[in-house]
Amino acid sequence: MKRRGYKLLITAGPTREPLDPVRFISNYSTGTLGYTMAKIARARGHQVVLISGPTELPCPPKVRKISVETATEMHQAVSKTFPKMDALIMGAAVGDFRPLRVANQKIKRSGVAGSLRLWQLDLVENPDIVADAASHRKPTQAVIGFALETQNLMPNARAKLKTKDLDAIVATRYFPDQRGRGPFGDEPVEGAILKRRGAAKGFRSLKKQVLAARILDCVEEVLASLPR
Ligand code: CTP
Repeated sequence: MKRRGYKLLITAGPTREPLDPVRFISNYSTGTLGYTMAKIARARGHQVVLISGPTELPCPPKVRKISVETATEMHQAVSKTFPKMDALIMGAAVGDFRPLRVANQKIKRSGVAGSLRLWQLDLVENPDIVADAASHRKPTQAVIGFALETQNLMPNARAKLKTKDLDAIVATRYFPDQRGRGPFGDEPVEGAILKRRGAAKGFRSLKKQVLAARILDCVEEVLASLPR
């Protein structure tokens, strides 16, 4: 049976990894799906903490927002907050790598070398936040991940579900529209929700508002199946 009033930790938006005081590496995530889930979850009577990378979106009413910028900051915020929550819904598009060195001053073009005018950047891997949270969770806690894939959607999503030890994963297919924008912002999405057990539930051309509600249905179902 579905229960209301869970404590849900939702992450949303991109992370930014600085190169120098004026530049960063990031991705096209807008945070739309995460913020929509936060709003609907609150309307369903759940308590919501939203850990968000930089976005243009307003925080939904009665949602506690923690703003972060880098993957490291998001990792710290999730590690600190998740132990008090019932579920982690890891919607953020976390940058997998960060620059090994962050310059104190603006990197100058005059620093490039050789006839090829090459400038090389060393990147170091960021921690896998959702996998780390899943490995430390209590039997009462649920962990839901996401997978945006440009190819082999279902095998890649299934592999992530298993290796990250998630209760469910929301797989979405990247295919650029005529404007080449992909599934970012208000664009409809295609993919499937896969749970640890049971058949995958596919969706096509779904508005994020509807997908957000379906994801929350899934989270409530998973939580209801866990010991309390
Ligand atoms: N994720 C995370 N920490 C990271 C990278 C990803 O917690 N450093 C989470 C995302 O929030 C998402 C899930 O892991 O819920 C899958 O993210 P994705 O980028 O699709 O997978 P990766 O593990 O980064 O694998 P790859 O980039 O090789 O596809």
